[in-house]
Amino acid sequence: MRRLQHGFSRLTKSHLLSINFQRFSSLSFLCILSVLSFLSFSLLSSTEDKQPPVASDSVIRGVDDLPLEQRRAFLRGTLSDWRIDTDKQRGISPPPIQKPYSPDAKRLDLISSDKFTVGSMSVRDAVRNRRSRRDFSGAQFSLEELSYLLWATQGISRLDRDQDGKLKAQYRTVPSGGARHPFETYLVISRVKGVTPGLYRYLPVEHQLLMIKEDLGLAQQVMNSCYGQGFIGSSAVTFIWSAIPYRSEWKYGSIAEKLVAIDVGHVCQNLYLAVESINSGVCASMGYNQKRMDDLLKVDGKNEFVIYLAAAGKLAKKK
Ligand SMILES: Cc1cc2nc3c(=O)[nH]c(=O)nc-3n(C[C@H](O)[C@H](O)[C@H](O)COP(=O)(O)O)c2cc1C
Repeated sequence: MRRLQHGFSRLTKSHLLSINFQRFSSLSFLCILSVLSFLSFSLLSSTEDKQPPVASDSVIRGVDDLPLEQRRAFLRGTLSDWRIDTDKQRGISPPPIQKPYSPDAKRLDLISSDKFTVGSMSVRDAVRNRRSRRDFSGAQFSLEELSYLLWATQGISRLDRDQDGKLKAQYRTVPSGGARHPFETYLVISRVKGVTPGLYRYLPVEHQLLMIKEDLGLAQQVMNSCYGQGFIGSSAVTFIWSAIPYRSEWKYGSIAEKLVAIDVGHVCQNLYLAVESINSGVCASMGYNQKRMDDLLKVDGKNEFVIYLAAAGKLAKKK
């Protein structure tokens, strides 16, 4: 230490100045370099990087791998944390509002919302009587009832387009942060009059059902992927919502994930109220095996994954 002090005291003012100058010049060189690389990165990302970001293969498999502070930070995420650093700000076009599908795929028309005869219970009564109900009968929903439930949960009530027909804004029967609506609705249909049991996807833009595959035993498979919860196996229809987080991330960046989680609650609550208004039953479930459910829907589990589900059906006992 003494040697160090001694050596240091022998440095003259000019030594110090030249050291400072050298440090300053190498520092400023580094600064200029990082500003240049930042600028070239921003330019590149605004012009070439038009693809949505793809979640990386990381070692984090689930929330258990995250420390408590990070899990709570996700819940606290709000506008005060928001760095306005989004693909929207960079001028990248928004992702499609609905997943594309093959033009050859079989599609079924649903009943249009202006033709509904079901669901006339007052909101007050639906809110008052709503319960999670798990005791389903073997009775079928009608196509109109299913159409009504899909419309109530994800139906489009207004689409605004510009002069070239390009989509400007969408409004649905449920709210969603920034009207991003980051979900797809998959349906395991077992008992709907006139509809072959199997896996389907709702197409909100066309208000149609897209058939994915016919399968009589799918409800049992879903039940098994939900830790054997019996009401799922006996449902007439199980609604499975997948999240496509980028739809919200495109606009909201770091706070998008919290918005997605809030949004899906609105969707399921509308299902509860709509089901109640047709004197039927529904029960939500977050009790499912993520990998098995993602595999069942053939979604990649990264950029699209199951986020929530609810099994619905006619009730075994009258309320
Ligand atoms: C996010 C969420 C997840 C749920 N997951 C399940 C589930 O996996 N299995 C189940 O039987 N009920 C599930 N439920 C239903 C709750 O158990 C139910 O809402 C609660 O017992 C209160 O009953 P109520 O809905 O009749 O008021 C879930 C509800 C919510 C909101």
